[in-house]
Amino acid sequence: MNQPKSRTLLAIESSCDETAIAILRGFNELLISNITSQANIHASYGGVVPEVASRNHLADLPPMIPHALQCANLTIHDIDAFAATVGPGLAPALLVGLSHAKGLAIGMNRPFFAINHIEGHLLSPFFGYSTIPEHIGLIVSGGHTLLVHVKSFGDYTVAGKSIDDAAGEAFDKVAKLLNMPYPGGALLDELAEKGNPKAFDLPRSMLHSKDSNFSFSGLKTAVRYLLEKHPIETAEAKANLCASFREAVVDILVAKSLELMQKKNLRILGVSGGVATNVRLRQRLLEESLRIGFEIHFAPEGMRMDNAAMIAYVAAHRLASSKSYLCPHTCKSELDDDIQPRLDWKKFS
Ligand code: KG4
Ligand code: ZN
Repeated sequence: MNQPKSRTLLAIESSCDETAIAILRGFNELLISNITSQANIHASYGGVVPEVASRNHLADLPPMIPHALQCANLTIHDIDAFAATVGPGLAPALLVGLSHAKGLAIGMNRPFFAINHIEGHLLSPFFGYSTIPEHIGLIVSGGHTLLVHVKSFGDYTVAGKSIDDAAGEAFDKVAKLLNMPYPGGALLDELAEKGNPKAFDLPRSMLHSKDSNFSFSGLKTAVRYLLEKHPIETAEAKANLCASFREAVVDILVAKSLELMQKKNLRILGVSGGVATNVRLRQRLLEESLRIGFEIHFAPEGMRMDNAAMIAYVAAHRLASSKSYLCPHTCKSELDDDIQPRLDWKKFS
């Protein structure tokens, strides 16, 4: 019997300062995933400027679409459905990707899927799977720190979140205090490798709060006070402070993830978002997975920072579970979805 033909999806992500496009066939054949980062442009402002991000998406995205199709050896007629990030994110930035993807779907008379960016991160550790296993998802990005109980695709319960700064944001703010360029998370991680994590005694906020929420702003403030009292004068002291800060963040993330897995009696952890690249976090979670015996899935490289492959992957699940995929008109409702800059972390799929 002939296998049904895998469908091909084109997805666009433009929620912040990365312009990204991906073409995915089925669940696992990633034909192309291109990302144009504006990080250097925003570095001089010390953070992302929404209007500047929007203007750069507008300049970068149009040529990326034919280029992606050409690299995948396809034409626009080969695309079975289109998708874009609908939120959360910066309004003028989201508008660019969403409008382009909708325009293509309307022009080609194909289904369109409006995708929640956080759901993209959440499922990225299982990229390629046609079924999402029940697990605990730890999302650690620049904008979010969440612990989610995933029962299956589309069935998510948020168990905890940061009540103030996201983990990535805390890394970036402390990096800024140490005069590193924005976003400094990766550089701080690199410097921390050379330091002593026990050199400075920093707080582990909410470590024993008995819930799955996080707080990182007190830790950042502790670093600020420490720097005010004792300016860092040597490379060694800087590396020690980086290592001590990183250890505090990692202690909290690891403890809360393990606690929730134990509470829910689950043995699979998925870790996603930019901070999933953190060397110490990965090392500690791998050690714990061997010690306690649980499966750990990190989002693959290229899918931790903002990207369109994770958006295409969620859309592939939606397409597979949509009985109406053969009739684009029945999917058209999502063409009415406007950008949702403050899209709630509870509202998935
Ligand atoms: O997932 P992502 O693109 O952000 C959002 O969607 O919000 O991740 C970007 C964040 C930034 O805060 C960046 O500094 C942080 O991830 N990051 C890291 C590392 N690499 C990226 N933080 C700590 N250690 C790293 N190695
Ligand atoms: Zn993101």
